[in-house]
Amino acid sequence: MKAKKALSLLMTAALAATMLTGCGGGRGTGETAQPSDTSEVVEETDETEGTENEPAEPAENEEAAGTTSAGGIVGVALPWLGTQNWAEAEVMFKEQLEAAGYETIIQAADQKVPQQQQQIESMIENGAQVIVVGPVDGSQLGSVLEKAKDAGVYVIGYDRLLENTTGVDGVVQFGSVKTGELQAQALLQGLEELKGEAPYNIELFGGGPADPNAPNFFTGAMSVLQPLIDDGTLVVVSGQTDFTQCATVDWDNSKAQSRMDAILAGNYSDIEIDGVLSPNDGIARAIITSCENAGQPIPVVSGLDAENESVEWVWSGRQYSTVAKPTNALVAETVSIIDSLLSGNGMPETDVTADNGVIDVPIYELPPVVVTKDNAKEVFADDPDRMALLTD
Ligand code: BGC
Repeated sequence: MKAKKALSLLMTAALAATMLTGCGGGRGTGETAQPSDTSEVVEETDETEGTENEPAEPAENEEAAGTTSAGGIVGVALPWLGTQNWAEAEVMFKEQLEAAGYETIIQAADQKVPQQQQQIESMIENGAQVIVVGPVDGSQLGSVLEKAKDAGVYVIGYDRLLENTTGVDGVVQFGSVKTGELQAQALLQGLEELKGEAPYNIELFGGGPADPNAPNFFTGAMSVLQPLIDDGTLVVVSGQTDFTQCATVDWDNSKAQSRMDAILAGNYSDIEIDGVLSPNDGIARAIITSCENAGQPIPVVSGLDAENESVEWVWSGRQYSTVAKPTNALVAETVSIIDSLLSGNGMPETDVTADNGVIDVPIYELPPVVVTKDNAKEVFADDPDRMALLTD
C-alpha cells in the first residue's frame, strides 16, 4: 500500500506540474484541464489513509450516466458528516458535480483539523483545480489554502467562512447573522403563542466555537433577544449569556444535553423553563430530551437545518421551529461558480463581502427560511422527502 501511495504521489506531482505549466485550468488560467489524464490519479487516491470517504470513480461513471466530460477535478472537503446538511452535501456534491462532467474527490474530516489539512493537501497533489471547503475550524486552514492558491487551485468556502487566509476566492453560504435573527424571532413568537404572558424563563445555546457560523448565529439571535433581556421580558435564569458560556464544543449534542441537565438541576427545581435558543436541530432535540427527562413541560425551542427528525418534531409540536437552508440549493450555487471558474469566466459578480481577517472575501448568500408547523407545508412544497414527513 505504501509503495502504491508513493507511486501515486509521483504520478500526481508530475500531472499537477503538467497542469500548472501546460493545459492549466486552475486559478487565473481560464482554461479547462484534460480529464482523460486524470483517471488513474483519482483511482489511486483510494489508497489515501485516514479518510472517511472514497473518491468517486472516474470517467466510466460519466459515460454510464451519459454526461459529457466538461473536464476538471473538483475536491470537496467537508468538516464532518454528523448533521444532516453535511451528509446531504456529500451525496449532492457527488451527484451534481458528476452530472456536470467533473471528477470528484470528496472527503470529510470527522471534526479534526489535521485530518482536514491532510485531505486538502492530498486534493492539491491529486490535481484538483477547484477545492470546495467546509472548514472544521475556519481559522486553521491558512497555510494549506495558501499552498492551494500558490498551486493555482481555486478555493471556495462552503457554508462556513474561511478566515485568516488570502487563499480563498469566495464563500457560498446562507446568511449566518440572519439565521440567528430568525431563530430568536421564532423563539419569541413561540413564547407568545404557547407560554402566556411575559416574563419568560429562557436559556441560550450556541454552536461549536471553531465554526465561524456559530458566533454569527449567536450575534444575530442576541440582537433580537438582548433588548428583551434588558427590559425583563426574558429572564436567562442561569445567568449564562456570553457566547463562550453558551457554546457547544464540536456541535456535540451530548455536550449540549449535559449542559441543559446541569442548568435544569441547578436552577429549575421549582420553576418552569419556557424557551431555549438552540443553534441547530440536533442540539434542539438534545435540549428537549433533557427537559422531558427532568419532568419539565416542553419549552419553545428553535433549531436549524430542517433535519428529518426535527421536521417530524415540529410537525408533532415537540420542537417549535427550525430554519431551512436547503443543501441542494447551496450545492447548486457552488457548482455554478465552479462552472464559471473552469470555463474561464472567473468568479461571478457579488455585492456582498466579508472581512476574513486578511481580505474581503466575496460572499454568495442564499436566504434561510424559518419553519414552524404553520408554514411547513408551504416551505417544503418542492421537497417531497420532507413533505412525506408531514403526515396527520
Ligand atoms: C452549519 C449548520 C450545522 C452545523 C453543525 C454549521 O456550520 O451551518 O447547518 O448544523 O454547522 O454541523
